[in-house]
Order: sequence, then C-alpha cells, then structure tokens
Amino acid sequence: MFVEIIDKVRRKEILSKEEIELFLQGYMNGSVQEYQMSAFLMAICCNGLSKEEVFAFVECYLQSGIQLSFSQEEFLVDKHSTGGVGDKTTLILAPIVAALDIPVIKMSGRGLGLTGGTIDKLESIPGYQVERNLEEIKQQVFQIGLVVCSATDEITPLDKKTYALRDVTGTVSSIPLIAISIMSKKIAGGAKKFVFDMKYGEGAFLKEKEEAEHLASLMLEIANQYHCQADFIYSDMSHPLGNAVGNRLEVLEAISVLKGDEKGELYEKCVLLASHMVALSKKCSLKEAEKQVKEVLESRKAFEKFKEWISYQGGKLELLQIEDPKISYVAPFSGTIRKIHAKEIAMVSKELGAGRDSLFDEIDPSSGVYLHVKEGDHVQKGQILMDLYTAKKEIPKIDFCFEID
Ligand code: URA
Repeated sequence: MFVEIIDKVRRKEILSKEEIELFLQGYMNGSVQEYQMSAFLMAICCNGLSKEEVFAFVECYLQSGIQLSFSQEEFLVDKHSTGGVGDKTTLILAPIVAALDIPVIKMSGRGLGLTGGTIDKLESIPGYQVERNLEEIKQQVFQIGLVVCSATDEITPLDKKTYALRDVTGTVSSIPLIAISIMSKKIAGGAKKFVFDMKYGEGAFLKEKEEAEHLASLMLEIANQYHCQADFIYSDMSHPLGNAVGNRLEVLEAISVLKGDEKGELYEKCVLLASHMVALSKKCSLKEAEKQVKEVLESRKAFEKFKEWISYQGGKLELLQIEDPKISYVAPFSGTIRKIHAKEIAMVSKELGAGRDSLFDEIDPSSGVYLHVKEGDHVQKGQILMDLYTAKKEIPKIDFCFEID
C-alpha cells in the first residue's frame, strides 16, 4: 500500500486525502519507514503537489500536534522570515509592535548552517530563558504583551520529523514542502494574521525572487484556506542585513536601532515590517501604521518595552558585553566596494564560532563579524572593512567576502 502511494507520486498522479493521511500518519507511528518517506519526499520534490494535496498535507501536519488559541486572537499578528544573513529584525519588531499595544507571541528556532536563529541570538543575553510552557506564555502576554520563546515540541511534530529527514535527503528545496512546513507551524501557533519577510538572493534559502513569489502565492492559498490574512514583503539578501553577523553582536545592533542610534537599511526594513504588522492588526492604513511605529521608536517606548521583555524572561542586559575584536580585516587596496557577499560573510561568521552544522553543535555567543562598510563605499588601502570576534586561534580565509575595484 505505501509503495503504491509512492509510485503514484512518481507517475504524477494526484493522491486522495485518505492516501495522504494514511501515509503521513504511518510515518508518525513508525509503520512507514524512513527510506519510504525519503522516496516519497523525493518524488514530491521532482513532481510537485496539487493545491488540494498541499491542503491535505497541512491538515495532517496540524493534526499531528496541538494548536494554540488565544483570547486576543483577533489582534495577534505574527511575523516570519524565510531566513537571511544578519537578520535580527524580530528583536526590533517585537517590542515596537508590543509598545503599540498589539500582543506578540513569537515562537522561534535555532540557526542551522548559514542562517542564524532568533533563539540563539536571545540566548546570547546572559540569563535569558527561551523555554516557556503554554501557561507561562499566556501569563506573560497578559502581563507585558510580549513573549519570544522556542517552539514547543507539541506543535506540528510531523514537520519536525519530516524536516530532519528532508535536511539529509536533499529534499528541502521543494516549494510545496516549504509552504506546508512554514504555514502549518504558523497556523498552529494561534495567530490569524501574518507578515512574511520573503528573503531571496545568495544569503537566503531561495536564490531567485521568482521562487520567493511562487512560494508566497502558495502560502497565501493556504492562509486563505484557514481564514487567515497574510502580507508578503520581499527582501534581497545578497548582502547581509545591517552590520553585525553573530549572535551577541546582533543583539547589540538591535539595541542601537531601538535607541535610535542607527538609521540605515536595517532600521528602514524594521519600520516597513512593523508598519505592515500594525496595519494588519489595527486595520489602519500603512501610512498611519508607519507614523505610529516611528513614534514609539523616537519616544523610546519600543526600547523600554524591549528592556521590560528581556528582563521578564530573565535576561541581564547589563552583562551583555563583548570582548575586543581578535583582528580587523583591512582593504588590500583603495577602491569602491562593489559587493559584500552574504554567503561568504555567513561562512566566516560560522567558522569563527557563531553558527553550527548540526543542531547538537555548541556555538560561541560572542563570536561573529562586524562590518564597517557597505556596498558603494569608497575605501582607502588599509581601512578597516570588518572586525572579527572569536575565541578560536585560527582565523578563516576571508578573501571572497568583498569585491573592490
Ligand atoms: N523553513 C521552514 O520552517 N520549513 C522549510 O521547509 C523551510 C524553511
């Protein structure tokens, strides 16, 4: 029976809802073997899934675990990024939105490979507690309007099991599988309104904008099916977002945006994303939402909310320090910075200790890189382009991070 289902996908025949349920439930209870699931996923990767099949998958993923619901459901708005180098926007957006009295419940993950994870960034703050049970989440949102914690194992366990297998079978890049994975987790999290930051480019999961658009259209169909609203923003991730790449360095950069000390691309991106979240939740125009977002940044209400949130979850910002950089990388000759390669920067940061290859690897919260230049800048020979932070003795090769001419 399971073999017939796999063969049907190979022959590009449409599976019934019952066949999908049988196969996926079988995988959860162990009657479908890992090698059968691998073949099934690879057939899907090659031949795709119809819209109805995608909906049936999402339902099975949701049914595999618990689905949260909150009394503030009508106002709750969640944001999800498809992952990019130096993306610390959640740390900035969450307190902005909460400072505008919109409840924020954000469940995040750890980084793997070249993309960082919000949970690793938060854990780089001494004392910050990432684990929260459902009761604690509800209590914290009631008291301070904001919680950011790690995703509980009870939400879409089928996604967790399948994702681990996709990771080692070359089946991560299938658009329907990505849409199912992201949307089932988001819907199970209890919000009904979502802003998605769709990253594309060399520092992102999806390399081309068209792929990001294709993924977004499928995600929107799933959102509509569950009576959810979704907004999509597209971000080119061929260079890192902001100056810092590495967990504690990124928290420090987020703080400088919240304090109003930094007004570059990262600030602009956060204002844009936060405005979409506020407009969705308050049902107001984007222009009105942007005005409110800028107000809570300028009045420092967002920064005050950030401090309240971090301290509520045990974090001690006064201990958030970083050692001096180990070395600085300087311009080998004078010229213009044509390109800062996000992927190369992420690789250097990972080698310095900021990232992991497997979820069991330890990371060093203080390591990473800090960029002192952006694309288009003119630099002189010997000028510092980037500082490197690490406890390691060996410094990775950094020849390919910058293109200067
Ligand atoms: N992020 C997810 O949560 N799932 C995917 O399949 C890919 C990226």
